[in-house]
Amino acid sequence: MRKVKKAVLSICESRKIAMPDEINPHGTLFGGVMMSWIDKVGYMCAQNYAEWKKTVTANIDQISFYNPVYSGDHVVLKAYVAHVGKSSMQIDVHVTKEDPILKNKILVADAYMTFVSVNQAGKGRLVPELILETDADFERNAKAQVRIQMRKELILKLAAINPKSKYPQFKNVDSPIKLLKMDIIKKLKHHTRIEKIINYVLN
Ligand SMILES: CC(C)(COP(=O)(O)OP(=O)(O)OC[C@H]1O[C@@H](n2cnc3c(N)ncnc32)[C@H](O)[C@@H]1OP(=O)(O)O)[C@@H](O)C(=O)NCCC(=O)NCCS
Repeated sequence: MRKVKKAVLSICESRKIAMPDEINPHGTLFGGVMMSWIDKVGYMCAQNYAEWKKTVTANIDQISFYNPVYSGDHVVLKAYVAHVGKSSMQIDVHVTKEDPILKNKILVADAYMTFVSVNQAGKGRLVPELILETDADFERNAKAQVRIQMRKELILKLAAINPKSKYPQFKNVDSPIKLLKMDIIKKLKHHTRIEKIINYVLN
């Protein structure tokens, strides 16, 4: 039987201080340093959820920077398991900077990523089913589902430009041509003659 795990048990927090050698020529934290911090905390969250088994970064849907970080700023990164498939985990990372005296927090960045738990052969390995409890858990989960859907819609839109293009990053979902065909057939499901023609053209 598949194990279950509460989302709250995998929340992972990491604290950093921006050091002078991590600052870019404009005097703010180099974006690549922040991306590395985000990937690490996301990885720790996912690997914890995946019972400490080997886990890899598969995809970053979005990473946004909202406010600059300066030398000496205290940076707090928090990672949450938002959604789980069979072996994949959607991880949300929120980054704030904190004034240690005033304790005020400013949102600095956020990122939405996919990690995959893999076996020795590098193939997807089943992770526990996700238990959602709080309103925040449910909200993160609903948003992650929208992102997963958006990835599929992106393939459709790209496929509309050139249905024969290959999208290696999307090799795990149906091929663009198949998705396009399913979409068209769904829209025209009562038009059997047209359906046959579409099948003929797309196959
Ligand atoms: C990620 C990786 C393990 C997927 O391997 P694969 O043979 O395609 O695995 P599968 O087809 O069995 O897919 C496994 C899961 O990953 C998901 N997945 C794979 N690639 C994905 C991508 N680019 N974006 C989102 N999800 C992805 C699948 O949807 C599937 O999810 P599910 O099990 O929850 O249904 C493989 O592509 C890989 O090793 N990539 C390199 C990872 C890496 O080096 N990262 C940087 C350093 S850690």
